[in-house]
Amino acid sequence: MNDYQQKISELKNEKNALILAHFYQTLDIQEISDFVGDSFALAKKAREAKEQVIVLCGVRFMAESAKILNPTKTVLLPAPDAGCPMADMIEPEDVIKLKERYPEAAVVCYVNSAAAVKAVSDICCTSSSAERIVRSLPNKQIIFIPDKNLGSYIASLVPDKEFILFEGCCPTHNRVSEKDVIAAKKQHPDALVLAHPECRPEVLRYADYIGSTAGILKAAEQSDAKEFIIGTEITIADKLTQELPNKTFYPMTNSFLCPNMKKTRISDVIYSLENMVYEIVLDDEEIQAAAASLERMVSI
Ligand code: 13P
Ligand code: SF4
Repeated sequence: MNDYQQKISELKNEKNALILAHFYQTLDIQEISDFVGDSFALAKKAREAKEQVIVLCGVRFMAESAKILNPTKTVLLPAPDAGCPMADMIEPEDVIKLKERYPEAAVVCYVNSAAAVKAVSDICCTSSSAERIVRSLPNKQIIFIPDKNLGSYIASLVPDKEFILFEGCCPTHNRVSEKDVIAAKKQHPDALVLAHPECRPEVLRYADYIGSTAGILKAAEQSDAKEFIIGTEITIADKLTQELPNKTFYPMTNSFLCPNMKKTRISDVIYSLENMVYEIVLDDEEIQAAAASLERMVSI
């Protein structure tokens, strides 16, 4: 155990803390965490946590979801400025207007959104649960917010529903173009393409597998193929390279990076735990309103 690991283990005992990390966190953060997962698994873990303190190594909406699902716990976000630009693309007023326009529709809200937006939605989803959640709803019309790319992918899987999409997107995934995927395939013609549904539809057209971060990791592990082009944040390719040394992983482009997910450093985790700072504070009304749509998601 190195000095950092020793310090974190002491702090975890002293504060009764659980450290959760998203797969896009740097590998050294993943190594010092108690659990690493996709956003669905992180929400479930946070909801079940018995420890008094949850340290969320990820971005703000993930830490907010942890607080909403387990409100008596202290939730810390060690990199307090780690936001998600997609979550900032939609306001509660946008949702209210859409609901007025389509009163029969159910509002399905991707968890990559602020608590106030979840509060005016009917149900939340993650990339790994979106299809299941949409299928579970009796409504024919679905207002899908805020990710137009995930929304249009789910719409293609559930053609009997009518989708009203919002114009939001993940800048990291949306920046990758059809040209990028064609170039990667040309360079690595034997590689399978594994892509996240936050990618553009014209990129997903080339994918052999489409799924969440956890889904991509599992697909790579279970496949008999030896080479893969990874169509999501670059750390997934690094993680796979480390974990499956007999297979080769190429990022779809070298610029596939989420700057916000890279803001957490080990020293930030130590600082926030030591000083109990960068706590997520939401008002009770907001927690209660957002809890309904998040609870529906985890219970389906
Ligand atoms: P998942 O972990 O649910 O695949 O989501 C990816 C993501 O963009 C989180 O910000
Ligand atoms: Fe937000 Fe995209 Fe970064 Fe995920 S990868 S946190 S959706 S900007």
